[in-house]
Amino acid sequence: MHLEQKVQFLLVLGLALVFEGGKCLDQEVIVAYGSVAVLPCVDESSALPHPSAVYWSRIVDNLKKTVWRREKSGLEFRPVKSPSRVYCPAPNFGKGDYSLHITGIMDKDGGRYICDVEGKTSMTKAIMLRIVKVSFSPPIVMEGFRVDPKCIISPKPQIGRLHWELNGKATDKAVLYSVSQRDSGNWTCRVSYNNVVGKATAFLQVRGISTPPADSSMVYAAVGSSVSLPCVFTEGLVQHSGIWDRSSKTRNSSPPLPSSLDQRSLVPLSSRDRSAWIETVEDGDEGIYTCSGMMKLENIQMKAQRSMQLVVARVLSSSSKGQMTLTCHLSNFSQVTSYEWLRVIYGVNNTQTVTSVSTSKSLKIPKVSEQDIGEWVCRYNGKDGLLGNVTYQLHMMGAQMGQSDSKSGNKVGMVMGLGFLFLVVFLILFQMYKNYRRKKRIFLYPAMETIVHEAATEQERIERCQAKLNEACGGELKSMCV
Ligand SMILES: *[C@@H]1O[C@H](CO)[C@@H](O)[C@H](O)[C@H]1NC(C)=O
Ligand SMILES: *[C@@H]1O[C@H](CO)[C@@H](O)[C@H](O)[C@H]1NC(C)=O
Ligand SMILES: *[C@@H]1O[C@H](CO)[C@@H](O)[C@H](O)[C@H]1NC(C)=O
Ligand SMILES: *[C@@H]1O[C@H](CO)[C@@H](O)[C@H](O)[C@H]1NC(C)=O
Repeated sequence: MHLEQKVQFLLVLGLALVFEGGKCLDQEVIVAYGSVAVLPCVDESSALPHPSAVYWSRIVDNLKKTVWRREKSGLEFRPVKSPSRVYCPAPNFGKGDYSLHITGIMDKDGGRYICDVEGKTSMTKAIMLRIVKVSFSPPIVMEGFRVDPKCIISPKPQIGRLHWELNGKATDKAVLYSVSQRDSGNWTCRVSYNNVVGKATAFLQVRGISTPPADSSMVYAAVGSSVSLPCVFTEGLVQHSGIWDRSSKTRNSSPPLPSSLDQRSLVPLSSRDRSAWIETVEDGDEGIYTCSGMMKLENIQMKAQRSMQLVVARVLSSSSKGQMTLTCHLSNFSQVTSYEWLRVIYGVNNTQTVTSVSTSKSLKIPKVSEQDIGEWVCRYNGKDGLLGNVTYQLHMMGAQMGQSDSKSGNKVGMVMGLGFLFLVVFLILFQMYKNYRRKKRIFLYPAMETIVHEAATEQERIERCQAKLNEACGGELKSMCV
């Protein structure tokens, strides 16, 4: 800005102040759209304890128009409009308070009002009523589209400042070119001028998926546990099926959804809560999950979509020379800031005693003994606190053999393992039984066993010989084989 321009600007500002100052008889009242306005008219000197008449009027096109009046006789006059939004509470009169109340304030109520009270002496007050209103253009918007928050003051003061807050926090008002769920909420516009302050608030609804509010949130789950993948739509969802999908960063084709994933809504079709539920999280279920749905806004349909990452946690164990190492493993630990290992001991009546034993990712148990059998829990934290935990069940056999399945290990695996064990045991027993039978037979007929065996081998030898000869000579040298 050039100096000249600056001077000019200050001059204009000064003039504006003077101008505002010139009307300083007017008391300023600024109220939010829709609220109740109280236009003050109080006789501080108590010179008019029993007024003969009270007149409230409004200046419209330089003319005084009666808004409310009370005659000497006590008769009240109001505008014909019913129900009237304008009144003066009579009980206040005794206290010298003739303030006018206007309910359900609208933009058109803004302007200059005059209060005239007549008694032995008379009193006149002028009030400037201004209305603040927050509005959005368009009033309802889809995620990713443009919205313009507006703060309108009517009548507008010559000077003044505006401050915006979103859900109580100061924010910059600007046209939101790509609105997100984070922009939805209560927008407050604070107005200040000539030591007068006022504010108005309005709620901005952003159609789309309210939970989670943005892409790439993380959901943590231990192997073997169950987990909910959140997806809550705002008003306007029109599609009721095929909401969940899985995508892969590396592969082109998307991996299938986990077999235990349930994407039926718990509540009937109208429900906007489309969260999915994985009954048993397995190794390999980690990755990106996407929920999407068609949304309707006026007559257009648009797709709303949200992706999130399922992070699977498990405990890896290894041991050598009696020392065991438990490692807290997560499929993605980019958000993990710290780990904590806990020893959980169960007492009578299932009472839990939890002791913190380490704050590193890996826990070393130097000499595994019977005392170490039981539950070990790894808690992992992010910058905003606890993200989740994963439990490891230490068995004595596992400790000795250097491996053990985690408590949260999958049930299917365990069932299969047990089945396999039974099969092996059965086969061993069966073999033992066969051997036993065979031995018993040998014991009964030892000679015959040899004879039978020899006869069989002899017969085989002849057959093999003949087959070879047939191939070579067409059966002419048959006798040679005998
Ligand atoms: C917005 O204001 C309403 C009414 O005061 C309140 O009930 C609601 O919780 C507020 N919403 C937020 C996100 O702060
Ligand atoms: C972990 O998640 C972040 C996003 O939060 C991503 O950028 C990163 O590639 C992921 N790492 C792995 C190993 O998947
Ligand atoms: C265990 O529970 C039973 C019944 O609830 C109660 O009588 C008993 O005192 C409890 N024992 C301990 C050690 O808390
Ligand atoms: C682990 O997480 C589960 C589920 O949130 C909770 O019930 C349990 O108390 C946690 N265990 C520990 C030791 O923090």
